[in-house]
Amino acid sequence: MRRALTAAVVAVVAAAAWLLAAPPAPMRQPLAFPHVKHQAVACVVCHRGAATASRAGLPGATFCAKCHSTLPKEIAWVQVTRIPPHVNFSHRRHVTIARLDCTGCHGEMRERRAPVGTPAVQLTMTTCLACHRHEGAAEDCAACHR
Ligand code: HEC
Ligand code: HEC
Ligand code: HEC
Ligand code: HEC
Ligand code: HEC
Repeated sequence: MRRALTAAVVAVVAAAAWLLAAPPAPMRQPLAFPHVKHQAVACVVCHRGAATASRAGLPGATFCAKCHSTLPKEIAWVQVTRIPPHVNFSHRRHVTIARLDCTGCHGEMRERRAPVGTPAVQLTMTTCLACHRHEGAAEDCAACHR
């Protein structure tokens, strides 16, 4: 009896440790939006800030209503790709000034049949710095950190 109990406790502790070590659970969007069916619309028409502002932005339901009449009035999209608040990042700087393609930082969104649960490309300090080194862009701490 005691041995069985010990085994059970060990199993529970091992499961808890595995859960703590596992990567964060994929996020879920409220609606299964398929990028692949919207290839006729340019990326920056839906993500308007990508060319002009820091944040790319996610389109509101009133925009979808231009073509769909049966969708809910409000859709609470979840932002999946994000960097911590102590880091400076501007889409405009990278898209409009450096003329970088979305795919380099986000993968082939155009072909997706369903939303991503975790970012297709992990954007960490290492990824940022690797490209900055390659492109001769800023590498000093203060350029990226507030
Ligand atoms: C310019 C027109 C247009 C806009 C704007 C648009 N869609 Fe679509 N959407 C389409 C077309 C065309 C299809 C493909 C329909 C098909 O294959 O029968 C589609 C397909 C879909 C589908 C797959 C289910 C279906 O009806 O085929 C979903 C879900 C969807 N759209 C959601 C959205 C959401 C959410 C938005 C706003 C973020 C949006 N759409 C904005 C034109 C548009
Ligand atoms: C018709 C509107 C529409 C078009 C066109 C569109 N998107 Fe999106 N995009 C969305 C919506 C809605 C979401 C949130 C749901 C999802 O993740 O699929 C989204 C999510 C994303 C995300 C994930 C954001 C996050 O939180 O991590 C990226 C990256 C993205 N889109 C890039 C693109 C690129 C690149 C293009 C052009 C190839 C594009 N999108 C075209 C509506 C659009
Ligand atoms: C140099 C890398 C890079 C490029 C190029 C880039 N992005 Fe992003 N994108 C990011 C980062 C980093 C974030 C997270 C930003 C944050 O947390 O504020 C992000 C977030 C997003 C999001 C989430 C919502 C939001 O408001 O930021 C969308 C949508 C998105 N990008 C779309 C695009 C589209 C469309 C393009 C091309 C026109 C593009 N991105 C080009 C790095 C990039
Ligand atoms: C694919 C290449 C690439 C990636 C990935 C990339 N950058 Fe950049 N970044 C550039 C280039 C090129 C410039 C120079 C643009 C210009 O001429 O202003 C730049 C400029 C910047 C600047 C302005 C620097 C200054 O001189 O003031 C900041 C801040 C910045 N990036 C932050 C980031 C952060 C944070 C990430 C990661 C989340 C990132 N970048 C990822 C290519 C990249
Ligand atoms: C090109 C942009 C860029 C430059 C330059 C940069 N960082 Fe970062 N840094 C980031 C991003 C993006 C993150 C958040 C993602 C991550 O943790 O990898 C980060 C995270 C960090 C963290 C982790 C903070 C935490 O929340 O755990 C530290 C510490 C840090 N940076 C220090 C530095 C120092 C010191 C320098 C200068 C030697 C530097 N960084 C230069 C982009 C940059």
